[in-house]
Amino acid sequence: MNPAEDPKSSRFLKACRREAVDCTPIWIMRQAGRYLPEYRALREKHAMLELAKTPELAARVTLQPVERFDLDAAILFSDIMVPLWGMGVPFRIEESIGPVIDNPIRGAAQIHALRTFDAAGDVPFVTESIRLVRAELGSRIPLIGFAGAPFTLASYLIEGKSPRRFRYTKALMFDEPKLWDELMTKLTDTVIEYLKAQVEAGAQALQLFDSWAGSLSPTQYAAYAFPHSQRIFQALKKAGVPLIHFGTETATLLDQMGAAGADVVGADWRVPLDQAWKKVGETRGIQGNLDPAMMFASFDVIRKEAALILDLAGSRPGHIFNLGHGILPETPVDNVARLVDFVHENSPRTSR
Ligand code: CP3
Repeated sequence: MNPAEDPKSSRFLKACRREAVDCTPIWIMRQAGRYLPEYRALREKHAMLELAKTPELAARVTLQPVERFDLDAAILFSDIMVPLWGMGVPFRIEESIGPVIDNPIRGAAQIHALRTFDAAGDVPFVTESIRLVRAELGSRIPLIGFAGAPFTLASYLIEGKSPRRFRYTKALMFDEPKLWDELMTKLTDTVIEYLKAQVEAGAQALQLFDSWAGSLSPTQYAAYAFPHSQRIFQALKKAGVPLIHFGTETATLLDQMGAAGADVVGADWRVPLDQAWKKVGETRGIQGNLDPAMMFASFDVIRKEAALILDLAGSRPGHIFNLGHGILPETPVDNVARLVDFVHENSPRTSR
């Protein structure tokens, strides 16, 4: 078949634009990762960040899940922390802990000293990886680029590791709003520059990961995070690719996340999909939202839950199937293959 006629080549992008599709597209957050034996095999020889920094390897890992499953999009293999190198913040990724920063950014002097990020000079390997993946994928399926949202990046910078209680982050936010604003503005500038560079290199959609936004109340989110995320979506509109906005524990924030300006909002599994969509607003698409822990259950359980989610989306255009957060290490690979096929075979055709 001529690739231009293959519905799979455009299914994901069409759903992002809320156009009719032949069936519901599906991709999976963290689809390239430790649940895949072929990823673990590469990790025996290379550290995670070495994979991300070496274009040939990053491209290979990006394509691993796409070769195994009938997914509707690829997502670049990297990490939300990568652009922080360009701001002069060294970090490492520790096994089962995640990103670690030895000298967390907690004071005025450190915030003033953060460097201006320059995509071409600081992360040439990211744009090169994107070019390699696009050359391999051709018009088969689109490639998603991504960045961490300013609030989530700030939490890592300030806490120094995966935040639990947000003690230092919120102290800075509440006690020193001017300094908070300076930090968030610098992170926002970085994210805009980073995402623009990804689109120029060939990314066909972008996802902004605000994984920790759910630690904020609606009032806090409105004052301390929303204006910055909104500036990112405003700046990226001109790039012309669909924009996705994701966070977890965001049931009380979904209206604001919709208003921030993305085309699609990702919901976690704690909110029924139809309620999440209502809060986001039906002029946006919705992404989600199967509980990643459910992937360890028998396929009968997964099938019922996936059918329920498809049913809650109904025949409205604009649903992209995903998990409600990243896929967990040790998830049975066979359940992933079956889920992907189930979604394609059992989703309603959308109409306008
Ligand atoms: O989705 C994909 O397949 C693309 C790759 C990707 C990674 N990290 C690879 C990775 C993406 C999109 C991310 C984003 C990311 N990184 C987020 C936002 C998404 C989310 O899950 O909330 C966050 C919060 C991070 C920070 C981070 N990096 C964490 C929490 C961890 C995991 C810690 C652990 O070991 O459980 C990492 C490391 C990381 N990033 C791994 C991968 C595949 C595991 C590292 C390894 O191979 O050992």
